[in-house]
Amino acid sequence: MAQGFTLWFTGMSGAGKSTVSRLVERTLREAGSAVELLDGDVVRTHLCKDLGFTKADRDENVRRIGFVCELLSRIGVIAIVAAISPYRESREYVRSRVENFIEVYVECPLCTLIERDVKGLYKKALAGEIANFTGISDPYEPPVAPEIVIHSALQTPEESAERVLRTLESRGLISIRRAVGA
Ligand code: ADX
Repeated sequence: MAQGFTLWFTGMSGAGKSTVSRLVERTLREAGSAVELLDGDVVRTHLCKDLGFTKADRDENVRRIGFVCELLSRIGVIAIVAAISPYRESREYVRSRVENFIEVYVECPLCTLIERDVKGLYKKALAGEIANFTGISDPYEPPVAPEIVIHSALQTPEESAERVLRTLESRGLISIRRAVGA
C-alpha cells in the first residue's frame, strides 16, 4: 500500500493556500496517487458548518480536519489541508496524531494581503465589519519549524507547488519527477 501522509498548508486568508494546494493535488492525482484536498472554505460548508471563528471553534475545526487526515493517512491516502489554522498548539496536536505530518507555511506580508484582498474581506475587517479576522483583529501564530515555507509574494503558485513536490520527493514520500504543469 502507498504511504499516506498529511500535507498541511497554514497561513493567513488570501496567502495562497488554496491555489498552491490545488496545484499540488492535481499533480499528485495525475501521477496516480490517491489524494484528497480538505479546504477550510469547503469544509466549513459541510463537516464544520456549525463552527464560527472564535478560538474554540477554530480549534475544533482543525481537530475535525485533523481527524479526517488521520483516517485518510492510515489507509495510504495523501491528505492535503488548506486552512488558516492560526493556533500553533492545535496544529501540533494534529502533528502528534498523524504519522507523517508535513507543515507548509504559506507566508505573505499583511500589507500584500490587504493590497490583494482577493475576497474583499480585509477591507471589511479593517472597517470593523468582520469580528475576529485573522491578522487584523485575531492572532495568527506562524509555525516555528515548518517542513516547508512558501513566500507567496515572491514566488508564483507554480514555483511554490514545485517546491512542495520536491520536498515531498526528497523525503521519500512521493516518487514522481516532473515539473508542475509539464
Ligand atoms: S480556521 O481559522 O478555522 O482554520 P478556515 O481556513 O477554516 O479558518 O476558514 C478561513 C476562511 O473563512 C477565510 O479564508 C475566509 O474566507 C473566511 N472567514 C470568514 N470570517 C473569517 C474570520 N473572522 N477570520 C478568518 N477568516 C474568515
